[in-house]
Amino acid sequence: MRFDTVIRHGTVVTASDTFVSDVGIKDGRIAALAADLTDADEVIDATGLFVMPGGIDSHVHLDQPSGDGIVMADDFDSGTRSAAIGGNSTVLAFCMQEKGQSLREALKIYHAKAEGKCHVNVAFHLVITDPTPEVLGQELPALVEDGYTSLKVFMTYEGLRLRDDEILATLDTARRTGALVMVHCENEDAIRYLIGRHEEEGKFAPKFHATTRPVAAEREATHRALSLAEIVDVPIVIVHVSNREAMEEIRRARQRGQKIVGETCPQYLMLTADDLDRSEMEGAKYVCSPPPRDKASQDACWEGLEQGVFDLFSSDHCPFRFDDPEGKLNEQGKRHFRWIPNGIPGVATRLPILFSEGVMKGRIDINQFVAVTSTNHAKLYGLYPRKGTIAIGADADIALWDPNKRITLTNDILLHGADYTPYEGQELRGWPVHLLLGGETIVKDGLLTQRDGRGSYLKRKRSSLFPREA
Ligand code: URP
Ligand code: ZN
Ligand code: ZN
Repeated sequence: MRFDTVIRHGTVVTASDTFVSDVGIKDGRIAALAADLTDADEVIDATGLFVMPGGIDSHVHLDQPSGDGIVMADDFDSGTRSAAIGGNSTVLAFCMQEKGQSLREALKIYHAKAEGKCHVNVAFHLVITDPTPEVLGQELPALVEDGYTSLKVFMTYEGLRLRDDEILATLDTARRTGALVMVHCENEDAIRYLIGRHEEEGKFAPKFHATTRPVAAEREATHRALSLAEIVDVPIVIVHVSNREAMEEIRRARQRGQKIVGETCPQYLMLTADDLDRSEMEGAKYVCSPPPRDKASQDACWEGLEQGVFDLFSSDHCPFRFDDPEGKLNEQGKRHFRWIPNGIPGVATRLPILFSEGVMKGRIDINQFVAVTSTNHAKLYGLYPRKGTIAIGADADIALWDPNKRITLTNDILLHGADYTPYEGQELRGWPVHLLLGGETIVKDGLLTQRDGRGSYLKRKRSSLFPREA
């Protein structure tokens, strides 16, 4: 067979295997894995490089409305450009239902935001903020059939959080229809109470974002979410876990026999609450929820990755500009931490951070790296085996990694819309130097090669946790 493209002399890495092989690509898909594939229009020399499935980041916020006068720093153009530069070929973004809005209306808006702009492939999770009988009884089941097979619910944030009875009703619909539910676990009432106490005590600086959202508020909500899922008998994803106690809740639920997915993020490995205490409002750059904790929590999250408590390593990319009245330093945010928009940029740095600090430092092996950054996302969110692996028949969404390339992270190389990275100056070893999307090169020598977006919208199957179509 004559191939469109052949990747030669690389080391192929999947979630289970590492082997030396050429990769033959035809019509956007992987057509051969063998030695000495030469007959091709284009040959990419991957000597000394790892050939891995493109990263799949299943927790990314793009172009979401974020409160009065606050503007998210990335739309689908800049966010997916940044994703590509960081070795990702697919992102799963959130489609946020406004109160009173139908899910179809919300999806129409997000599809329009994404249309023609995406540099990598995109799919949507539905965020349920208004679980009316129509939404749960009619809309959601139909949308699951249409390929929107996952959703997120919040236990915190005024205006977004659901009550326990609403979470139960949503989980029950998810079980019946075969949708995978992601849960943001923090106890809103406890946080509100603590914010009130901080206000009485005149504590308004960014660092108090962390003290009003303590580990116990996350642990309690995690336990409650797991209990609600147990009552309804449905798998759930506990997203952005920041500490050992929440992790232990996941372990215990699994011991009880529940199917639970755990997710953690780079900020919980790399940052601590001390970062929120940097001078001159600098701490605002690190405000996200749950907040980064302490060194012991970082160690716990590494342990969770090593031991498989976490199936998913996602960015929770939620970018706001720092020095901007529409961003972190809006007028109210300068005076009170509760008005600093929550979230940090990270879609470009997720993979290089885990590769450098995890693989190159021997904390996880390279197959685990592929599992928690790509393959598991594909399986759990209904994209496997077309995405998330290097196999014959899979889409040729492929990242070539140079394990020896040394990079010092600076904001300008990340191509996102934020005016900072939380990881400025971080020295890393290993970088995704080449990215193919459906067999077409979109990143070469670490630089974007295409001006226009080549990504597609991905209609998804049900999660691997719902083995038979519900
Ligand atoms: O602070 C964060 N994580 N912002 C993004 C929204 C969310 O809860 O995932
Ligand atoms: Zn969340
Ligand atoms: Zn998030």
